Amino acid sequence: MYKWWMLLTGVFNMAVASDSVVLLDMAKKKMADPATYEQALRLGEDRVVLCGYCHGKDGNSVRTYIPNLASQTPEYLINQFESFARGERESPVMSKLANILSDDERVNIALYYSQLKAEPRMSQQPQHVAEGERLYSGKCAVCHGVDANGNHAMPRLAGQPEDYLMNTLEAFKEGKRRTNSPMRPVAAELESSDIQALSAYLTTQP
Ligand code: HEC
Ligand code: HEC
Repeated sequence: MYKWWMLLTGVFNMAVASDSVVLLDMAKKKMADPATYEQALRLGEDRVVLCGYCHGKDGNSVRTYIPNLASQTPEYLINQFESFARGERESPVMSKLANILSDDERVNIALYYSQLKAEPRMSQQPQHVAEGERLYSGKCAVCHGVDANGNHAMPRLAGQPEDYLMNTLEAFKEGKRRTNSPMRPVAAELESSDIQALSAYLTTQP
């Protein structure tokens, strides 16, 4: 006989099966074997044709309010797919897309983008770059790395489009993105002028 707790276990297993931890493990296994890794990159490349219209064919975004995916850490990318799919992070486009990507596709796409090169950009407010650098090394480098290239679950920020950085930091500050994010308390302390300076600096970084 089917009992209510069997249903619960089923739901629980489903949630765990698509969990970031499991996907990260898949990614590590694919990376461990050169032939499997090559195949994952090929499959990833085939799957991102649509993504390129917004995120750029080479993963360097073609719109200042859309993030680059090139050089991003696979961990962070996988976590974002989870966040969008679960509705912890909201975006009309990305929530739908994340839900139609299988676990395997998410892993292949994350591996594919992580090995493309992100290019630095010109700031619209170059006069704030120096102040941004000062703020960055004091408040952010400890997690995002001295070069802002990210590490594991800490995203790369270098070269991200300036408007995307500003919008994102404002969203964290106002509690509009992932309410349990470690970025909430960090962003809460930033003035709008700090956000401008940090974004000006980060967009110019290689
Ligand atoms: C119609 C435009 C559009 C398309 C197509 C699109 N995206 Fe996005 N994507 C966005 C926007 C806009 C955001 C930023 C959402 C926000 O502000 O939180 C985003 C964010 C992301 C992020 C989070 C990046 C970060 O730095 O946090 C990932 C990962 C991502 N997209 C992957 C994909 C993949 C993979 C595809 C293809 C399957 C895709 N996107 C297709 C517009 C698009
Ligand atoms: C305690 C570690 C920590 C510190 C300090 C920190 N961050 Fe973050 N940051 C994270 C993590 C983890 C994420 C990804 C979490 C998420 O998406 O909720 C993130 C995400 C971000 C994002 C979103 C990236 C994207 O592609 O969407 C931006 C922008 C950002 N941080 C900027 C900053 C800036 C600027 C500072 C300094 C003022 C800073 N962070 C300090 C841990 C940190």
